Amino acid sequence: MFIGIDVGTSGIKVLLVDEAQKVVASHTEKLVVSRPHEGWSEQNPEDWWTATCSAIDALHASHPREVGAVRGIGLSGQQHGAVLMGRNNEVLRPCMLWNDTRAETECTVFERRFPQSRQITGNIAMPGFTAPKVLWVARHEADIFSQVRHVLLPKAWLRFRMTGDMIEDMSDASGTLWLDTGKRMWSDAALECCGLRLQHMPELCEGTAVAGRLNADLAQRWGMAERPVFAGSAGDNAAGAVGLGAVRANDAFISLGTSGVVWMTTDSYYPGGNAAIHSFCHAVPATWHQMGVTLSAAASLAWWSGIAGKSEAQLLAELPEAPQAPSPVMFAPYLSGERTPHNDGTIRGGFIGLSQSTTRAQMTQAVLEGVAFSFRDAVEGLAASGLSFQEADVIGGGSQSALWTSIIASILDVKLHRLAHGEQGGAFGAARLARIAVTNESVQDVCTPPERVASIEPDSTLNGAYRQAYLRYREIYPALRSIRT
Ligand code: XUL
Repeated sequence: MFIGIDVGTSGIKVLLVDEAQKVVASHTEKLVVSRPHEGWSEQNPEDWWTATCSAIDALHASHPREVGAVRGIGLSGQQHGAVLMGRNNEVLRPCMLWNDTRAETECTVFERRFPQSRQITGNIAMPGFTAPKVLWVARHEADIFSQVRHVLLPKAWLRFRMTGDMIEDMSDASGTLWLDTGKRMWSDAALECCGLRLQHMPELCEGTAVAGRLNADLAQRWGMAERPVFAGSAGDNAAGAVGLGAVRANDAFISLGTSGVVWMTTDSYYPGGNAAIHSFCHAVPATWHQMGVTLSAAASLAWWSGIAGKSEAQLLAELPEAPQAPSPVMFAPYLSGERTPHNDGTIRGGFIGLSQSTTRAQMTQAVLEGVAFSFRDAVEGLAASGLSFQEADVIGGGSQSALWTSIIASILDVKLHRLAHGEQGGAFGAARLARIAVTNESVQDVCTPPERVASIEPDSTLNGAYRQAYLRYREIYPALRSIRT
């Protein structure tokens, strides 16, 4: 038996996976995000810990025999968050999350101090990444910064709570801007720009490596016969890729979670292009990936559902099963700024083209299409790096909607596959990494493709209309930028 834990933004998900890679049970504990100021997004690490314990307690209560037989635990986590720890390993302030955009100025400061940054880290400095956040703390909360002894990403902090070890995997470490992504080692020069040294950082390992063992008291609490081994694990997107078997060059998938991701696996390192394409290590050795990130993907629909006062299911039920034509309304999903392709933390979104006859259904469709157009931006950015794909799997909560998947297929003009368990995301990949760490089986043997329930072709009759609509969508960002307050 294996456990995969995903430290998500909206919840902690724990999956129990058997030796045949079948999900036996799953439990999710919800989390909330605190937004004390415009552009801020924070969580208290202690909440991840409490939620993880509650989730495993619940699985232990419903499946005591299976939980007792767990051999390995894998972690998948929201990327980029900075958990700052002091002398006694205490958490010094709430964790600034991946979608926190306050550190805009610090990106410029970082790149000025470290001119080789894009070449070494593979990435443009973006406010969501860890290094600018820590620089923000150094500049605005000097008292806290002076106490920092360790900096951990969210799932590495959870590992620390569960094992006592400070260890980080390559895929998640790539999102800090402190990793020499090609060499898969911390960059002293990058750390120095933020007033940090190697001593502040966790030990690095590959996602498939053994990285700690569960504390004896926790193993006892959950009736585990032996103390399970932890895998090196992965950032949530890389863990999602492992769950999908996207471990070979040119494998592609789209993640329609709180954030959205268009992913392609690569077999060598090359820095991302100018369109704010991310270039990170994969969770498996000697493999990398490029991806475009939409900060508010399913988060846009969740926001609209709150505004409209209807559940997401109710909103989707007002639309046809497949798109008939683009909505007359357009939506720019920049609710928390945007990464790909704009790298702009301060831009904000909008509905465009409202009229007296606009309906709620048209606005809902505009939200789905706006997210799909932003995926198209990512596809264009990947193409500029010479990467393209004809088909891809879709995962994440939003992939449950056949309509949304169909809109994305038509806007990207690619074939998309919906999966039997597409909502499992990173937790399943994390359980696979745990299996590899424990059994030493090969990545190829474990990372088989998932069961597909439907394949959705782009609708060729909508091709022209969506191409025109995309060109209009591209005009929205410069217009919004010119009127930004
Ligand atoms: C990736 C990113 C998001 C988070 C979501 O760069 O910031 O996808 O990992 O949890």
